[in-house]
Amino acid sequence: MKDKTLVISGATRGIGKEIVYRFAKEGVNIAFTYNSNEELAKEIAADLETNYNIKAKYYPLNILEPDDYKNLFKQIDEDFDRVDFFISNAIISGRSVVGGFAPFMRLKPKGLNNIYTATVLAFVVGAQEAAKRMQKVGGGSIISLSSTGNIVYTPNYAGHGSSKAAVETMVKYAAAELGEMGIRVNAVSGGPIDTDALKKFPNYEEVKAEVEKRSPLGRMGVAKDLAGMCYFLCTDECSWLTGQTIIIDGGTSFK
Ligand SMILES: NC(=O)c1ccc[n+]([C@@H]2O[C@H](COP(=O)([O-])OP(=O)(O)OC[C@H]3O[C@@H](n4cnc5c(N)ncnc54)[C@H](OP(=O)(O)O)[C@@H]3O)[C@@H](O)[C@H]2O)c1
Repeated sequence: MKDKTLVISGATRGIGKEIVYRFAKEGVNIAFTYNSNEELAKEIAADLETNYNIKAKYYPLNILEPDDYKNLFKQIDEDFDRVDFFISNAIISGRSVVGGFAPFMRLKPKGLNNIYTATVLAFVVGAQEAAKRMQKVGGGSIISLSSTGNIVYTPNYAGHGSSKAAVETMVKYAAAELGEMGIRVNAVSGGPIDTDALKKFPNYEEVKAEVEKRSPLGRMGVAKDLAGMCYFLCTDECSWLTGQTIIIDGGTSFK
């Protein structure tokens, strides 16, 4: 894995941040994006370069403007000589999800469209740009983060859940067509993961208690649980694994 390059969206916090550290530990160079937290991005890049002896660069990106991925990858071309892995991780929150993160009767087209754009359209354009670069190095691995909110009812989650279902289907189509270039495409779907984002849910305590009760493992997920799977999916250990959604939910969806 040493000297390969990971491109990942939204690595200033939560799961994305955990993923870049997981890859950096193995000597992978990192190109990651931020949206509002430039200072955090700068600190993370400096920390990665100092402690892991790799190259790490950060770039602004707004996934509500998926075509911005085209310029982003042009900048990455100037800083890195190859792209091997792409992880579509960033997710929107706050004002842009108003009308999308709500009970069914309060859903609004604009909020739902924003979530679809950020989840599915951003994945499509980012993966297309990544695939063009991967083709030049003989293949690669593309991953979309997903969540079990598309298979298990989660209050207010219809917008995200339906877009995650859509991106999982998009992953299968991409996998079917990019395999001939040696590119594998998968989704990593998590149950509720204890991140700052989840702590902002109005019913966080309730979700936590329910997950601890339902999981045979008796705890909530942590960002590391998903980061490890993302790393595994980029290794040669799973060179025949493509078009799948890997569910990491502590066993909660069966119980
Ligand atoms: N947390 C969970 O329980 C859970 C469970 C399963 C799956 N997931 C999935 O895992 C992924 C990461 O989730 P998370 O909980 O780690 O998220 P998070 O903590 O809210 O972090 C979101 C990241 O996305 C960036 N971002 C926010 N708005 C953006 C925009 N408009 N354009 C580009 N980037 C933007 C943020 O950058 P700034 O900090 O710079 O603003 C940040 O780096 C998501 O796809 C999510 O659906 C999460």
